[in-house]
Amino acid sequence: MTASANTSDTQSIPLDLRRSVPARQLGEPGPDDATLHRLLASAVRVPDHGKRVPFRFLRIAGPARAALGEALAAITRRRDPGAGEAAIDKDRQRFSHAPLVVVVVAVFDPDDAQIPDQERLLTAGCACFALLQAAQSFGFGACWLTGWPAYDDEARGLLGLAAHERVAGFIHIGTPSLEAPERERPDPRTLLSELVL
Ligand SMILES: Cc1cc2nc3c(=O)[nH]c(=O)nc-3n(C[C@H](O)[C@H](O)[C@H](O)COP(=O)(O)O)c2cc1C
Repeated sequence: MTASANTSDTQSIPLDLRRSVPARQLGEPGPDDATLHRLLASAVRVPDHGKRVPFRFLRIAGPARAALGEALAAITRRRDPGAGEAAIDKDRQRFSHAPLVVVVVAVFDPDDAQIPDQERLLTAGCACFALLQAAQSFGFGACWLTGWPAYDDEARGLLGLAAHERVAGFIHIGTPSLEAPERERPDPRTLLSELVL
């Protein structure tokens, strides 16, 4: 990097255009197989201490989306017989808005003393973010959601996760039906301080 890389703090670059599109505003078409593989090729280019590849991807598409939603709704109904129809319906629809949801699964290893779970989770989180950026670069909209199914043992069982695996994020991907509004962003100057020793 040379001094010529310096720039004004108001110059914008493509990375600044990233924003989420709400799942319910994501419709067909989603990425086809070849495009998904292309997106994932970007998503795997993440910093990875020890090159452990502490993540994997699970595709939820087609009828699996509604089937998963029905199973989640059944869990909610069983656990909370007083749950309102709106709550049940939210679970039923959870994975049915976007044509594609990629679960980024963080893979832990309790026997790996060198790379702690925190670093593995951070790498999986980077993969989530890289996938968001790749999707937007190819003209799709995307958003990173979790919600209770990410943290629930029974829901994780439905996804086939092993005991040492966690959901880092559900990445919903599709074609935006509306232009997502920009939101206020933090001023980086207020977040930066200087170490003085
Ligand atoms: C780990 C993680 C989990 C998230 N889970 C949810 C969620 O379940 N529901 C939600 O509305 N937003 C969730 N968000 C926030 C959205 O992905 C998104 O960042 C937010 O709507 C702001 O939009 P932006 O990405 O354009 O800043 C989550 C973000 C992260 C990093």
